Amino acid sequence: MKAKFNTALWLILLFLNQVLFAQSQSKTVDQRVDSVMQLMTLDEKIGQLNQYSDDWTATGPVTVDNDKTRQVRNGQVGSMLNCKGTDRTRWWQEAAMKSRLKIPLLFGQDVVHGYKTTFPIPLAESCSWDLDAMTLSSRVAATEASAGGIHWTFAPMVDIARDPRWGRVMEGAGEDPYLGSMIAAARVKGFQGNKLGDVNSVMACAKHFAAYGAAIGGRDYNTVDMSNQLLWEVYLPPFKAAVDAGVATFMNSFNVLNGIPATGNSYLQRDILKGKWDFEGFVVSDWNSIGEMITHGFAKNEEEAAFNAITAGSDMDMESRCYKKSLSQLVAGGKVPLALIDDAVRRILQKKFELGLFDDPFKYCNTEREQKELNNPEHAKIARDVAVRSIVLLKNQDNLLPLSKSIKTIAFIGPLVKAVKQNKGYWDVEVPGVDSNFIVSQWEGLQNKVGSKTKLLYAKGCEIEGSDKSGFDEAVQMAKQSDVVILSIGERRDMSGEAHSRSNLNIPGVQEDLLKELLATGKPVVVLINAGRPLVFNYTADNAPAILYTWWLGSEAGNAIADILFGDYNPSAKLTISFPLSVGQIPVYYNHLNTGRPVTSNMGNTSSYIDSPVNPKYEFGYGLSYTNFEYSNLQLSKKKMSIDGKIVVSLTVSNTGKYAGEEIIQLYLRDLVGSISRPVKDLKDFAKIALKAGESKIVRFTIDKEKLSFYNQKLQWVAEPGEFELMIGASSSDIRLNSVFELVN
Ligand code: GLC
Repeated sequence: MKAKFNTALWLILLFLNQVLFAQSQSKTVDQRVDSVMQLMTLDEKIGQLNQYSDDWTATGPVTVDNDKTRQVRNGQVGSMLNCKGTDRTRWWQEAAMKSRLKIPLLFGQDVVHGYKTTFPIPLAESCSWDLDAMTLSSRVAATEASAGGIHWTFAPMVDIARDPRWGRVMEGAGEDPYLGSMIAAARVKGFQGNKLGDVNSVMACAKHFAAYGAAIGGRDYNTVDMSNQLLWEVYLPPFKAAVDAGVATFMNSFNVLNGIPATGNSYLQRDILKGKWDFEGFVVSDWNSIGEMITHGFAKNEEEAAFNAITAGSDMDMESRCYKKSLSQLVAGGKVPLALIDDAVRRILQKKFELGLFDDPFKYCNTEREQKELNNPEHAKIARDVAVRSIVLLKNQDNLLPLSKSIKTIAFIGPLVKAVKQNKGYWDVEVPGVDSNFIVSQWEGLQNKVGSKTKLLYAKGCEIEGSDKSGFDEAVQMAKQSDVVILSIGERRDMSGEAHSRSNLNIPGVQEDLLKELLATGKPVVVLINAGRPLVFNYTADNAPAILYTWWLGSEAGNAIADILFGDYNPSAKLTISFPLSVGQIPVYYNHLNTGRPVTSNMGNTSSYIDSPVNPKYEFGYGLSYTNFEYSNLQLSKKKMSIDGKIVVSLTVSNTGKYAGEEIIQLYLRDLVGSISRPVKDLKDFAKIALKAGESKIVRFTIDKEKLSFYNQKLQWVAEPGEFELMIGASSSDIRLNSVFELVN
């Protein structure tokens, strides 16, 4: 009897426990946030809005402050950046657990194109036009970063850029808003995975809000001034795509937009982001961008800078200390309503709950997982696959490429052949305790590829910069002994990236002079150009028989380049940014307006230069393959479309060459007459398909009103009746098929 009673009692207690547990879990995030906020003092709330960099590595002007640990222990810091590794992040989190309310820290890091495993720089990756590949690379980056203690990456950078003088063009997805939007969403999906709180997921951060890439003169941090129509048409769409993809955070930008610093810009952060777009995440400032409103002449002092920023919707203060110093008296003085502070704190705490940090502040501090993920051979394979998809074949005269694997002697020449870390490009992550041995140099990649029957010769030839030609003779001697020369030239990796804008885009030093000497030997020369941006290299372009734009390809650079050189992967990448013929053409981009006197007209006086063509050296969407593709049989399901109708477009694409390959088919539209002048063409869709030699496939696109719409003078998103030209291109200027249709009322 007694036993039965005990069993019954035990079952009742178990049931009650389940109910109570379920109730604690069923408390929504908001309820849990409320329960914490009710306990917080104003000082602790302001602490959540305060972010410091760890002093070990800084990505901005360091303000050494060895009081950070005490402030963390006092609950006066909400987030740290540049703390890497499970040991370091555990140490900081343990400090936070000494605070009164034990609110966990958020750890952020610029994991822009990989954590340990390094992927091609984002601009290179964007040339793959392969959204799945970019999602996958972001997924790997998130897996490794979260294994390294990181909760939050300051990526994807989604700034549209039409000026390759700007150093940060390397960090984005080029010049087109449609493609940039698709890539923004793909990268957010990769970083954040199915949901925040999954151990392999990190918060993503759409940056830099907004229009940072339109800095005058291509000079970083410089003034941005544009019409709201251009802002909405070109620079905002990738940010909206990130919001629609569920991005957890935004970062604002250093620049003014039409005179108002983005950090203090209510139009951007309140009206658009948190208002029209109903963004529920939080906004972090860029490094000291709140304090820099004083330098902009937009704030008298730190108190006014703090007032401007919090009022405009900047939730977290990266490194300026303006919030820590001034918000308390601004609230006490009635200048800043407590509600504004509470809104910012709520947004930040919500993310900490969603990440699971309140349940387990050390959830991402697992050293076994760190060890496993950072040495995951599968990640290297993925990096190699993404890298081969990012290499653009610019020229292949007489089908010099791919090289035969039975080739006897190769002379591999140039200052980047044996470089190791250069291959990582800018915004790589220095992972604690990890050396660079895992990076495959271009030389090593060739060694891995060729058999014992192929002899490899090496000469540096010259440095990246400088006028020293003393190495030319040795290089020429090597070339003369070879069957083919591969010349690897370009920029240094830190000649692009933040605060690294250039006023001229030439290949530095005497590298093209070296090419001239090597061509004079009569040997065939394949040129690899390594850079974080479009460069101007007309001599090379006009004289070298084969050119591969290899960007900065990351930790598998050498293997990927060798795969392409020997045809183990047929290059499929296409440019996502125009390559100017000269700096004088900048800005040069494909989706320009027609003007009243286009250069194609026979007006005599046209919109042209007296000393240069107007077309770029290589256009948006350009890239070659080892095979050929033919486009045929364009069909439209109808020629008249009602506003809520659709047109199905189909065409046949055939691989008429001898290599299997992938082709990126681009659909462009032109609104022939609009209430404002419309671009001569706009990318509205694309498809990347694989075709075996001799194979054909039918490709289909759907036109709906979304693809016909634009922001009119009143900034209304409208599709206006009238005629449209439809263009199917292998690039923005290599239009293979076209047609017209009409949108009717
Ligand atoms: C830098 C960059 C920003 C980066 C931040 C933290 O100044 O502008 O993109 O995320 O500081 O490193």
